[in-house]
Amino acid sequence: MPDSHALIVGASRGLGLGLAREFLSRDWHVIATVRGENPPQAVEELSADYPGRLMVEPLDVVVDDEITELRERLSDRRLDLLFVNAGIGHGRGETLVATSAREFAHVMLTNAYGPMRTIEALQDLVRKDGVIAVMSSGLGSIANNRTGTWEIYRASKAALNMLMHNFAAHDTSRTLLAIAPGWVRTDMGGPNATLDVETSVRGIADVIAARRGTPGFAFLNYRGEVVPW
Ligand SMILES: NC(=O)c1ccc[n+]([C@@H]2O[C@H](COP(=O)([O-])OP(=O)(O)OC[C@H]3O[C@@H](n4cnc5c(N)ncnc54)[C@H](OP(=O)(O)O)[C@@H]3O)[C@@H](O)[C@H]2O)c1
Repeated sequence: MPDSHALIVGASRGLGLGLAREFLSRDWHVIATVRGENPPQAVEELSADYPGRLMVEPLDVVVDDEITELRERLSDRRLDLLFVNAGIGHGRGETLVATSAREFAHVMLTNAYGPMRTIEALQDLVRKDGVIAVMSSGLGSIANNRTGTWEIYRASKAALNMLMHNFAAHDTSRTLLAIAPGWVRTDMGGPNATLDVETSVRGIADVIAARRGTPGFAFLNYRGEVVPW
C-alpha cells in the first residue's frame, strides 16, 4: 500500500531484516531498529537499495530509557504497522532446573517484558485502524505443547501472548497479532529449519494485509492459520 509506514523493532538480521525488506519491496516506508549506534552492513545495504524510505533507529527493548527516547524522536510520526520482532532463543534441552534465575529473567525480559514495554510506549503512534504485531512462536502455544522441550523459551512466548491479551482488552480498534513465523533458517532457527526467511516474511506481510481493518487479537501463523492458545 503506497505511503504506508511501518516500524520494525529488531531488524538487524534474520526475520526482522527480512520483514523490513519485504515491506520496502511493497512500497512502504520503514523505520528499522537495531541495537547500538552502528547498523550492520546488511541494513546499510538495504537502505542504499531503497533511498529515502528506510530510517534506522537504535533500540534495545530491555533498556527503558532507549524506548522513551525513541518515542520522543518519533513523536511526529504516524504508523500503519508496529511490529516487535526482537527476541532471543534458549536451548531446546535446557530445563528450568538447569537455568539460573538471572538467565530466566534475561529471556523473559527480552521476549516478553521488553516487547510489551515497547508497544505500550509507542502504541499511540499507530493509527486507529493500524496493526500492532509481536513475533511469537508456535512454541508459545500451551495447547500444542506435547514434548516439553524449549521450556524457558516456550514460557517467554506464552507470557508475551498473555501480555498481548491484556493489551487487547484495552485496545478495541486496532488489529492485534501474535505471529508464529514457522521454523525459519536464521541464526536462531539454524540451518536445518524448514523455511527460508523470504517465504516466512512474505506470508507474514500477506497476513497483515489481510487482517488489517479487523479489530481484535489473533494468534496466527505465517500462512494465516489460527494457532491454538
Ligand atoms: N527462526 C525461527 O525459526 C523462529 C521461530 C519462531 C519464532 N521466532 C522469533 O522470531 C524473532 C526473530 O528471530 P530470528 O530467527 O530472526 O532470530 P535472530 O536471527 O537471532 O534475530 C533476532 C533479532 O532480535 C534482535 N534482538 C535480540 N535481543 C534484542 C533486544 N534486547 N533489543 C532489541 N533487539 C533485540 C536481534 O538484534 P541483534 O542483532 O542486536 O542481536 C536480531 O535483530 C524472535 O522473536 C524469535 O523468537 C523465530
